[in-house]
Amino acid sequence: MKDKKNFVDTEDFSKEELLDIMHLGLIIKENIKKGYPLNVLYHKSLGMIFEQASTRTRVSFETAMTQLGGHAQYLAPGQIQLGKHESLKDTAMVLSRLVDILMARVQKHESITNLAKWASVPVINGMSDYNHPTQEMGDITTIYEHLPEGKKLEDLKVVFVGDATQVCASLMMMITKMGGHFVQYGPKGFQLNEHFREIARRNCEVSGGTFLITEDEEEALKDADFIYTDVWYGLYEAELSEEERKGIFYPKYQVDMDMIKKASKDVKFMHCLPATRGEEVTDEVIDSEYSIVIDQAENRLTAMRALLVYFMGKEKETIEICKKNLGSN
Ligand code: CP
Repeated sequence: MKDKKNFVDTEDFSKEELLDIMHLGLIIKENIKKGYPLNVLYHKSLGMIFEQASTRTRVSFETAMTQLGGHAQYLAPGQIQLGKHESLKDTAMVLSRLVDILMARVQKHESITNLAKWASVPVINGMSDYNHPTQEMGDITTIYEHLPEGKKLEDLKVVFVGDATQVCASLMMMITKMGGHFVQYGPKGFQLNEHFREIARRNCEVSGGTFLITEDEEEALKDADFIYTDVWYGLYEAELSEEERKGIFYPKYQVDMDMIKKASKDVKFMHCLPATRGEEVTDEVIDSEYSIVIDQAENRLTAMRALLVYFMGKEKETIEICKKNLGSN
């Protein structure tokens, strides 16, 4: 059954619903950039549970709440009793009486699904070992803002280079849902598994998109509109040492200028950040005119504002206020 009370997995939402959230984010962004106040979450409180460190996710959620007139509480790794001295069920039920909405970055995906199950307030997934849906929303916004001239989302070829991290899986889910063409260029053993391939097939059937998983660089990069990568040490730290992993990915899967030149001439480079410069991407690429990683980081905030407004049921009211402020209908 689709879970639409919470934002745990973008697969619970249709293409149209995700595009509505993206456009909500864009109109709020314009409103805030023009200096109009938007206190639609006045006196509302967001509880932010983190089992891991974060820069972008934490700061963008907190800034979003402040800009929307509310307040965010940072519950740092190890600071609350999540599943240790208190059951996750009790934590979810108690926090639901103390705040209006929750977000959590968790080690194990089942922690976020359990929080969502037991909380009576909406729960937003701030990344698990399975997916990173708020990153997906920011990324589709960035891609939309950087569409090559004359192209639509459905026309795009988006290539993820490297390991099948949760960010890779999330990008695949978003691009195939939007009807675009998704490629993972990565080595065997580090490719999206059958579970994700089944999701890709299902999404493509509905959307008309395509997906390909390959070790062939020429095939992967030809006509790519976006090249995206992530760290090589995201998911398998316990299984392989850094040196072993570097031996698998380097140099073939490092995004360098040679790779950029094999793609479309207007290709853009993306990275969820934090990046390990000199490993999955060279300084030359990440600092180049092709790189949109800072716009991408900014759009985490665009996405968080939209998600908070949407899941607090303030979408219509917010759009009306924004349109009035911006003088459009
Ligand atoms: N991309 C991302 O989630 O960044 P943080 O880990 O800094 O939140």
